[in-house]
Amino acid sequence: MSGPSFPENAWYAAAWARHVAEDLLPRQVVDRKVVLYRRGDGRAVALDDACWHRLLPLSMGRLDGEDVVCGYHGLRYGPDGRCVFMPSQETVNPSAHVRTYPVVEEHGMVWLWPGDPALADPATVPDLSLAARPDWAGRDRDYPLACNYQLVVDNLLDLTHETFVHAGSIGNAAVAEAPFETTHSGREVVLTRWMLGIEAPPFFAKHLGRPGPVDRWQIIRYQAPSTVTIDVGVAPTGTGAPDGDRSQGITMQVLHTVTPSTEGTCRFFWKLVRNYSLEDQALTDGLFADSESVLAEDRVVLEAQQHALDDHPDKVFYNLNIDAAAMWARQLVTAMTAAESGSGSFAAPSVR
Ligand code: FES
Ligand SMILES: [Fe+2]
Repeated sequence: MSGPSFPENAWYAAAWARHVAEDLLPRQVVDRKVVLYRRGDGRAVALDDACWHRLLPLSMGRLDGEDVVCGYHGLRYGPDGRCVFMPSQETVNPSAHVRTYPVVEEHGMVWLWPGDPALADPATVPDLSLAARPDWAGRDRDYPLACNYQLVVDNLLDLTHETFVHAGSIGNAAVAEAPFETTHSGREVVLTRWMLGIEAPPFFAKHLGRPGPVDRWQIIRYQAPSTVTIDVGVAPTGTGAPDGDRSQGITMQVLHTVTPSTEGTCRFFWKLVRNYSLEDQALTDGLFADSESVLAEDRVVLEAQQHALDDHPDKVFYNLNIDAAAMWARQLVTAMTAAESGSGSFAAPSVR
């Protein structure tokens, strides 16, 4: 691979908002080490995690009010990144500062823009709104993965792997057999799969609480560069779900966004939410635990895949029909990175 696999001019999730508090939180976003914290009025701040003086990570220092104090020789920085105090001298070198990054808080997350600050438009934060809506309930998590972020996106855009990777949990033959449709526009790819008039899988039958055939859907929405939401559910056949009336059914959404840390590592954020039995904490915890074990199965595959990529730098990926959405996603990202490196523009890519 020539350049980086990730664009810089994009919003990336740095943390679930509740994890950014009055402590210094180190994170890595597209190769940049940053330190996050909150100002007195609650606004989140992101600074380069390297002191101007001798580069000690500022996250090893401490927060004093709204200032970060380096843990080595005590240089003090304000939330605008300017150094406001140097030990044993009267004046502060005016060029002493660390870089700050645009951050916004949206959907219960702190998003960071690592690229050109002039282009950081909060209106382009990925839509993960269901993560923070009171009429949807769920529980979130995030953790590092030892693989390139695009492997995770590929995985989420192709649910036929459920049949094989998750044979013991959510996989069944219907998912691998059902036809699907892929559409794309601007910075999005949508893959839609309907399974009409089928017997409800045991999990959904239990939650629906009604006998009889169901219409089951999986609608996967990718937002470039690295956000994937999966809308899943069932409704009794004949109640209009394929035409948009889901009032007789149940819906869950699995929300994911992946932040590249380096070429070979990333941070994975996810939350499963549902729009029924909102107060049932045992159900929330049960769904969370089930998702955890399913995602642990993915982790084994993804990290092994990264090892194989490292072992075989000369090999390429081949694509099947099932990879249509992932191919589109990769083309959108390629167009974004090409535009940044000046070797192309962000126009609609062509797909074969
Ligand atoms: S390295 Fe930070 S004050 Fe010296
Ligand atoms: Fe999976």
